[in-house]
Amino acid sequence: LSIVFGTTEIAPFAKTGGLGDVSASLPRALADRGHRVTIVTPLYKHLNPEKMRLARRLKPLEVPRKGKSADVAEVVLWEMNLSDGVRIVFLDFEEYFGRDGLYGYDDKGFEDNAARFAFFSRALVEFVRYSNMNADVLHLNDWHTALAPLYIKQYYKTEFKNVSTVLTIHNLAFQGEFDLKDADQTGLTKTAIKAATHDGKLNFLKSGIDLADKVTTVSPTYADEIKTEAGGCGLDKELSARKTDLVGILNGADTGIWSPSVDQYIEVRYDIATLNGKRRNKAQLQHDFGLPVRPVLPIVAFVGRFTEQKGIDVLITAVRKLLKDNDDERGAFQFVALGEGDKKLEKAAEKLASEFPKRVAVHIGYSEELAHRIIAGSDILALPSRFEPCGLTQIYAMRYGTLPLVHRTGGLADTVKDADVENGSGFVFGDFSRTEIIKTIERAVNRYHHHRQWRPLMVTAMEQDFSWSRSARAYDETYLGALGFAE
Ligand code: ADP
Ligand code: GLC
Repeated sequence: LSIVFGTTEIAPFAKTGGLGDVSASLPRALADRGHRVTIVTPLYKHLNPEKMRLARRLKPLEVPRKGKSADVAEVVLWEMNLSDGVRIVFLDFEEYFGRDGLYGYDDKGFEDNAARFAFFSRALVEFVRYSNMNADVLHLNDWHTALAPLYIKQYYKTEFKNVSTVLTIHNLAFQGEFDLKDADQTGLTKTAIKAATHDGKLNFLKSGIDLADKVTTVSPTYADEIKTEAGGCGLDKELSARKTDLVGILNGADTGIWSPSVDQYIEVRYDIATLNGKRRNKAQLQHDFGLPVRPVLPIVAFVGRFTEQKGIDVLITAVRKLLKDNDDERGAFQFVALGEGDKKLEKAAEKLASEFPKRVAVHIGYSEELAHRIIAGSDILALPSRFEPCGLTQIYAMRYGTLPLVHRTGGLADTVKDADVENGSGFVFGDFSRTEIIKTIERAVNRYHHHRQWRPLMVTAMEQDFSWSRSARAYDETYLGALGFAE
């Protein structure tokens, strides 16, 4: 099939979270199955096409800004081959993308985000028309692309009768909600705008959920959760209405980047046969973070966005309580955190580090290198998310023999089995509460001190297979279903 993959993030060019990783690896896995994929993504300010090797300038793309033709914007396109069967096309449009940041500054979204991503959605549709590549599938990701099916419906219904749309929801908490007065920036008619209205607001994701031929999300459990009132973020009815077309497909891990045997960033490479290498990464991590270099103390780590989604707020208070109560060697551990986001949470983490300088080290910021070094060097990766569509870091951690400690929700429930059951690869708790998090950290730390029990857990974790090929096959079936072939 010929697939156009629309995304606002792709590693290593632009990434704020897991979408960047998925956009880099899923297209490659699809190409391995014989498809041709064109990734279409904004050219953000920090990307310089002149410097990007092998980037070629294509003839510009015309994108109508209002209605069918009035006020046409010229978008410069830069094309680059990524790997066999995968190319990337950057949309170079200064007015919307030539600024610092992808979505906004600090915690605030840019004021013109409705216009920016309506434009991006429209540009994806125009790209399919322009490219002469006879696209079979337009694969959309998250709300930033979710108006595309509505543009197709309003302007190009017959022209697109052989092109199917698939919308992947990476996080239902982000829907692209705007004041209705922003609707005039979309170029949609009044009737069309109704299709993108929910609870008195413009809602990009809602229109995509209603209109895409197939809707996917990033784990089977999350696909179930979002159809319920508790997990539906206000869109459970819309999602339930699409239940026969809604499927949860687990993300995979790019093992060329996230494997201790090939990792570019870590001190010493290792695998199951050379597990001692992990100890050297641990010692280096303790050294780099200014913590006492003590192999006997397990390192509990957190790597991720500082938002309530991830449960980092409660994790900080749980760690404080444990460190206060346990000064003896048996219950003791070190805590390392890397992330950025909510300023309040950043401050809370830094405060914890100042209270326990020998036990806690925090790095506020974004660093791909540190993420790898922490995942390789720590013993336990805590991801006590309130909700988690898939989660990638717990999958990466297992490959490094770092045992995930997770809340049984969404993709965490689908990827981590508790150490107390057969084939356990981590620590899982059921109810989201500080008490449960505390108990589970205690259980994990305790287990760590029983060395003989720890090593088999590491090995089981490292043996888990979360490669992309299985997921790519599921996407394949979804595409065929969207195109009307029997699944
Ligand atoms: P989400 O998409 O909700 O943020 P995922 O677990 O799917 O969560 O993906 C997070 C990705 O972003 C991982 O690759 C993780 O290593 C990376 N990441 C998150 N925060 C940081 C940070 N501060 N520095 C480096 N990498 C980070
Ligand atoms: C979102 C989710 C995360 C998921 C990622 C990639 O950011 O929060 O759980 O792994 O998308 O699909």
